[in-house]
Amino acid sequence: MKETINQSKLLTPKTLFLSLIILSFFFLIFLSQQSRKSMQKPISGNPTPTSNLDLKIRPGYNSYDTYIHHQLKKTTNPKLRKIWTTRDWDRKIQVFQQFFNNLKQENLLSNSSKALCVGARVGQEVEALKRVGVNDSIGLDLVPYPPNVIKGDFHHQPFNDTTFDFEFSNVFDHALYPDRFVGEIERTLKPGGICVLHVAVSRRSDKYSANDLYSIEPLKKLFNGSEMVRSRKVDGFGLDTEVVFRKKEI
Ligand SMILES: C[S@@+](CC[C@H](N)C(=O)[O-])C[C@H]1O[C@@H](n2cnc3c(N)ncnc32)[C@H](O)[C@@H]1O
Repeated sequence: MKETINQSKLLTPKTLFLSLIILSFFFLIFLSQQSRKSMQKPISGNPTPTSNLDLKIRPGYNSYDTYIHHQLKKTTNPKLRKIWTTRDWDRKIQVFQQFFNNLKQENLLSNSSKALCVGARVGQEVEALKRVGVNDSIGLDLVPYPPNVIKGDFHHQPFNDTTFDFEFSNVFDHALYPDRFVGEIERTLKPGGICVLHVAVSRRSDKYSANDLYSIEPLKKLFNGSEMVRSRKVDGFGLDTEVVFRKKEI
């Protein structure tokens, strides 16, 4: 009886009101965390940025929009675009041509390959592929540069499954969701198709990178539908390692 009286004293309108306010406060915090998480995901039901020992996602991207905005800042700079498409145009194409000729000699690329360059900006690598005879080549970037580069997000490639024989990319470090980046390459490659990545392992990439890679081990794990063909040191515009994967046949 005594206890019942005490409990009813505790549940005065004032305490009820205070409890409601405290509960609402925690509920609002919960809601704001949920909406932040969902804003960071480019596609529902898919990965959250995950770091591990040898692959670190850079902090500071509070939403997917922030990430895209940051990536576009350099790519849309008119002065830089002028330089990339005039003074730097041929010089870079020639270096890419050497890489692709080597891959042709190793039978990892042929003139009949249908090829995609992921994160191709103004498409010097696409032009290089065409110059070495791989005519059915196209690039993908957030900003289009017709006719060689079409608009699209590499976290959600605008191509059907098993479209390409060959994919090249030197922008792995720009992926906010490395598992989605690799998943999309594996999805759009044909069985037996080849992916060549140029990455920075022993040096840090630029301020527009979204992740840092410290060894090729995370790549081997991410390419879980492929086998690694080889890796070697290269000198490719600040990137030091070439890694080649072949998508499994089944
Ligand atoms: C370092 S540049 C590389 C350009 C080009 N591959 C080259 O070597 O000249 C990185 C490129 O990745 C593109 N990029 C960044 N995030 C992207 C995304 N989510 N989807 C598609 N392209 C993206 C940028 O717009 C930029 O053109």
